[in-house]
Amino acid sequence: MNESEARYGLLRVMRMAGISALLIASALLSAASAQNAKDAAKPVVKGPWLDKNLLPDKRADLVIQQMTLDEKITLVHGVEGPLAKQHWLGGAGYVPGIPRLGIPELQMTDGRSGVVIIGPRGVYATALPCALANAASWDLDGSYEYGAQLGKEVRELGFNVSLGGTSNIIREPRNGRNFECLGEDPLLIGKMLGRELKGTQDQQVIGNINRYAVNDQETGRFIGSAIIDRRAMQETDLLAFQIAIKESNVGTVMCAYNRVNSVFACENPYLLGDVLKKAWDYKGWVMTDWGAAHSAVPSALAGMDQEMPSGRYFGDKLKAAVEKGEVPVSRLDDMVHRILRTEFAFGIIDNPPEAHPVNPFTGADVAQRAAERGMVLLKNDNGQLPLEASTIKSIAVIGAHADVGVLSGSGSDQVNPAGGKTVPYDRGIVWHPSSPLRALKARTPNAQVSFDPGTDPAAAAKLAGASDIAIVFTWQHTSEGRDVANLSLPDNQDELVSQVAAANPHTIVVLETGGPVTMPWLDKVSAVLEAWYPGIRGGEAVTRILFGDVNPSGKLPVTFPKSEADLPHASVAGMLLDANSQPKEQKKPFDINYTEGLKVGYKWYESEGKEPLFPFGFGLSYTTFVYSELEAAAGKYLRVHFRVANSGGRAGAEVAQVYATLPSSAGEPFKRLVAWEKVSLAPSEAKTVILTIEPKFLSIFNAAKERWELPTGEYKIEVGGSSRSTPLSQTVTMSDSK
Ligand code: BGC
Repeated sequence: MNESEARYGLLRVMRMAGISALLIASALLSAASAQNAKDAAKPVVKGPWLDKNLLPDKRADLVIQQMTLDEKITLVHGVEGPLAKQHWLGGAGYVPGIPRLGIPELQMTDGRSGVVIIGPRGVYATALPCALANAASWDLDGSYEYGAQLGKEVRELGFNVSLGGTSNIIREPRNGRNFECLGEDPLLIGKMLGRELKGTQDQQVIGNINRYAVNDQETGRFIGSAIIDRRAMQETDLLAFQIAIKESNVGTVMCAYNRVNSVFACENPYLLGDVLKKAWDYKGWVMTDWGAAHSAVPSALAGMDQEMPSGRYFGDKLKAAVEKGEVPVSRLDDMVHRILRTEFAFGIIDNPPEAHPVNPFTGADVAQRAAERGMVLLKNDNGQLPLEASTIKSIAVIGAHADVGVLSGSGSDQVNPAGGKTVPYDRGIVWHPSSPLRALKARTPNAQVSFDPGTDPAAAAKLAGASDIAIVFTWQHTSEGRDVANLSLPDNQDELVSQVAAANPHTIVVLETGGPVTMPWLDKVSAVLEAWYPGIRGGEAVTRILFGDVNPSGKLPVTFPKSEADLPHASVAGMLLDANSQPKEQKKPFDINYTEGLKVGYKWYESEGKEPLFPFGFGLSYTTFVYSELEAAAGKYLRVHFRVANSGGRAGAEVAQVYATLPSSAGEPFKRLVAWEKVSLAPSEAKTVILTIEPKFLSIFNAAKERWELPTGEYKIEVGGSSRSTPLSQTVTMSDSK
């Protein structure tokens, strides 16, 4: 197939996907003409740094030797305005290149649950399920596939930097950006995000870890100061970043808006210098979040390498500071070196991306698989699920615009899906065009499937009462820039569910939420499925799970509390409410005191003796699993092996989790996740799982000595299907190996 045939083929599939001919034509033309113009304008560059056999560090040094001060300054900040517009591909940020040296411009796009194109040239990108849904799969290979799809589209759309996922931990369940996070446990976050970023970067784009560090709420995000003791920060928030960076070798780290212990994250010498660059030996570059720089000299000296999206501080001000000797030339060279060595290492200089539209179908298949892996079955009384199509005569489908789409989260992770918006105006909320109603009708051709919008609970209950089963789709919209005031479903949905459940004993609730919500109606419904923000094939994925075409295997990456009263903090720090109890802007700087410290998520509930609604690691299957034969042996490493058997009648996958409680001398009287494996089993099949636990995951941070230490003594090892269901346990003694 030649290039024009390939383009024509793509045009046809995009048409079939309902994408307008005008958009396709303009996308193809603008991509092609931009590429041709660029190719024609490219100077022929020769230089020893273009030798692909040299190491990236060497190549970077060779370029730096040729650079003027102005050229160096060009690379360390973004550009906005007319110059950027000429070259803009529609992403979040642009940094000009240095054509005479063959250094390309940086085209950056947000890419967490899909490529976010905000500019006029953008057409379409795959809306994957949100990051929290990906984390709920606990599936490392799946996370790689998720990241690879992202990276592929980042590159196909002409970008070379993907502003990627975040390692920030869910400390505050009301945080509006929890849907972009990967849960409340540093090991789960670090491993899952690390594999995702590996998938992205294997597509020859530079990846990124967003918002370093302790950026755990949106209220006062530009002015709040996260106050947290060093040990707690190292063992929770920073550990998640450290693991993800180590696993992925990520090219860029974005410093966050907030202050950490009173110092802005982007000019924080401890975070950027002592920890990231020295202790973790990070080789990539630190870019700011958009507008998160506050100075030239302190930021440069602390370790910030690039200001985005403009050069307010790292343009003329940094140049003057270098000329005056306030910032050594060696520090500027280090910034440039980090940027260039990363560009060489990731292949964006040797093999730059060429913009062309993406194929909507392969992406949608990946999105569907990810959604199916990450949905969590929370309740299933009396085997209500899976549904059996042949015996159902009527289904009432209720609420959440389920006739047309599924919910997405807002802010810089808002993907433009194929087919455009389904609900023209809904408070800025985007419902992706994947209709659960249509998918359910297709799955049950002989049943009467009716829809009620759920705005009038009595009307919905009436339809439910006249149907065999009722499926209530519920939603909680969350967004960057604002937290939710509480964990209740909005818009009177608790009343809706209660009335429907009273009218029909076979009521199934599907949650489309960006994190935990409360469920005052839980005892009255027969089944609950957490679908998160499920992406462009969410409707199909929900249907396949409800009917057992897919056996659910997701587990909660975050605890669901019974009520806000059980959280470490009664309300979100600094949150002000308006007359309608809705959050309003907080303008006065304030502290966010993370007094719970180490006790994040399940560790909090366990040590406070509070029973959650659904614990961390929990999720049901249509089959059952039995654990046996634990053996834990301590040597240089701790090795654990045990058996998991499928004792039910269906094939399924179990996320087998290993927790450790450290010796009492460690001062941590609660367990922590130290390993897991997702095991796929046919009916009656059993497998032995063998896991080696990295010493780091059994260690504590000694803040006085600023180092990690492995406590000696008795460790309690527990194994099971959730943080509160660990049928196997054994004690092992770790002695001083020296
Ligand atoms: C967000 C980042 C994002 C950046 C660029 C900021 O507002 O906090 O997550 O990468 O914008 O869009």
